[in-house]
Amino acid sequence: MCGIVGYCGPKKASEVLLEGLKRLEYRGYDSAGICVSHKGSFETVKRKGKIKDLREIVPSNMVGNTGIGHTRWATHGEVTDENAHPHYDDSEKIVLVHNGIIENYQVIKKRLIAEGHTFLSDTDSEVISHLVATLYKGNLEVALRETVFLLKGTYGLAVMHKDNPDKIVGVRNGSPLVLGIGENEMFLASDVTAILAHTKQVIYLEDKEIVVITADSYKTFDFHEQELQKKIENIGWDLDQIEKDGYEFFMEKEINEQPESILRAIIGRTDVDGATGHLGGLNMTPAELLNIKRIQIVAAGTSYYAGMVGAYLLESIARIPASTELSSEVRYKNPVVQPDTLYFVVSQSGETADTLYAMRELQRKGGRVLGICNVVGSTIPRESDGGVYIHSGPEIAVASTKAFTSQITVFYILTLILARMRHLSYEAGLRLVSGLESVPEKIKEILADSGELKKIAVKYSKYENFLFLGRGLNYSVALEGALKLKEISYIHAEGYSSAEIKHGPIALINENTPSLFLVPDDDLRDKVINNIKEVKARKGKVIAVAVKGDDEIESIVDDVIWIPKAHSLMYPYLMVVPLQLFAFYMALELDRDVDQPRNLAKSVTVE
Ligand code: M6R
Repeated sequence: MCGIVGYCGPKKASEVLLEGLKRLEYRGYDSAGICVSHKGSFETVKRKGKIKDLREIVPSNMVGNTGIGHTRWATHGEVTDENAHPHYDDSEKIVLVHNGIIENYQVIKKRLIAEGHTFLSDTDSEVISHLVATLYKGNLEVALRETVFLLKGTYGLAVMHKDNPDKIVGVRNGSPLVLGIGENEMFLASDVTAILAHTKQVIYLEDKEIVVITADSYKTFDFHEQELQKKIENIGWDLDQIEKDGYEFFMEKEINEQPESILRAIIGRTDVDGATGHLGGLNMTPAELLNIKRIQIVAAGTSYYAGMVGAYLLESIARIPASTELSSEVRYKNPVVQPDTLYFVVSQSGETADTLYAMRELQRKGGRVLGICNVVGSTIPRESDGGVYIHSGPEIAVASTKAFTSQITVFYILTLILARMRHLSYEAGLRLVSGLESVPEKIKEILADSGELKKIAVKYSKYENFLFLGRGLNYSVALEGALKLKEISYIHAEGYSSAEIKHGPIALINENTPSLFLVPDDDLRDKVINNIKEVKARKGKVIAVAVKGDDEIESIVDDVIWIPKAHSLMYPYLMVVPLQLFAFYMALELDRDVDQPRNLAKSVTVE
C-alpha cells in the first residue's frame, strides 16, 4: 500500500527520500514521487512505475534538505504520472503526500471547483492540499487541524508550505505514521523500515495526532491543540534483517529463515516441567483462562488460514469451541459479542485495516481482544487488550511465509496452555512440547532437500489451473498453498477439503487440472487416499506431499514431495513449507516478480 517518507536535516533530502521509498517498495505500489524544498521553492518529480524509474528522472542537482516522498498504490484514479503524489494546491505553496482514503472527497471537490479551484489529478488526496490552502492563515498546523475536521476517511499525511520550507507537518488518522528522531535530523514515515538506516529512536503517532518537525525539533499535538509528551521507543530490528542477506529474493530468504523464526516464537514459551506453555502477553489469570467458553479468531489472508489452524487445535485439543472469521466480514455483520468469548486478531503487519476495524468493533461491544502480531509497535498490538508477538523479524516479501509458521506456533502454545488446564494429560502435553520443539530441525531437512521439489514445480509450471486438497488440520494449509501459488505465479489455484471435491469441484478434474494432495500419516490419511483415487479415476494428475515411509503413495500418484515423519499435529508446518517452495519455484520458472507480485500490497491499510 502507499508509503510516506519525510526528511528534515543536513543531508541531501532527495537521496534520503529515494532510499526510504526503495525500502518501502515491499509494501506494493505503482507510482512514486518526491518533493524537495530549496531556498523557498519546491521541486517535485513523480511518475508511474518503480523507484528506479523515478530515480532516472530525479535531477542530480536536486538540492535541498527538506522533503517528502510517496509510493502510491492506486485507489482513486488510474496509475498515471498526474495521479502520483505529491499534490499541490492552486498556488503551489502547499504540497502533500497522503496514505488512506478520503470518503467524502467528491463533495469537497465539487465545492472547491465551484469556488474556482483547478484539479490536476483524479485522486481523493488532491482535495486535501486545496482545502488546507483555503484554511491557511499563516500557520500550517492550524490549517491542517481545521482541514482534518472536514475529512471523512483515513489519512496519514505529510505536508509542507513555502512560508516555512524547512518544516513538515504530519497527521495520522487510520493510516500509520511514525516520527524518527536522529542527530539534528528528523524523519516521518509510514513504516519504520524506511528510516531504520538512519535512526532506531521513534515515536509512533496515534490516530488524531499531529506532528511538526524541523531538523532539530519535533512537537506532537492532539486535535485540540494540546501538546503531547510521547514516549520515544527503540526499534528492535537491525538493518541487515531488512536486507536480502545473499538471497536473490526476500521470499526465498524468509522461507529459509523459518527454522530460526519458529524457534524464536517457541523460545521461553514452553515449559517442559509442567508439560505446558507460557504466554505472558495474554495478561490473563489462570482463573480467567479457565473461564473461557469460546474462542473467536479474526484475520485476513494468510493470517486467516493460520487462525484456522489455531481454531482447529483449540477445539480438538483444548476442547474449547473455536472458530475463525474473515475480518472484512466481522465489522459490518453486527457481531454478537459475549463476555465468556475470547477474541484473537491475527495480523503480521498489525496494520491491516479490515482486521483493525473488526478489532475496534469487537472492543466497542465489550469484547476482550488479544492480538497475535509481528510488527512491534504497530496499531493492532497498541490498541488490543493484550497479545503475543510472533517475533518473526521483518517480513518483506508480499507473500507471507515465515509469519504463517510463527502465527501457528503461538496457537500451538496457546492450545497447550488451555488444554493442560482442561483435559490434556501430562504425557500428552509433553509429547506436544517435544513435537513442537522438533519442528525447526524437520523444516531444515525439507529446505536442505528441495532439489526434487524444484524439478516438480518446473514440470507443472505449464498448467493453468490447480486444486490444493487437504483435510482436518491440513485443510487450511491447502487453502494457504493455493493462495501462495496464485499470489506469486498468477496461476489459478483453489483450495478445498479433499472430502469436499465430490460435492462440486471434481467437475473441474481432467488431465489439464493437476491436484496437489496433502497426505499426512494421521487418522485421516486413508480417507485422503480414497479422494486421490477418485481424482485418478477421472484422469487427473496428482502430486502428493507425503510422509517418508508411506510406501503405498508412490504407486498411486504422479509425483511425490517427501516430508519427514513427525508428531501427527505438526504436519501443518511440514506441509506448508513445500507449498511455499512450490509456489516460489513455479513463479521463478514463469519469470514473475516474486517479491512484489502485481496488484498486491504487503500491508493492506484500506478497507
Ligand atoms: O498483515 P496481515 O497479516 O494482517 O495481512 C493479511 C493479508 O493481507 C496477508 O496475509 C495477505 O493475504 C498476504 N499477501 C498473503 O501472502
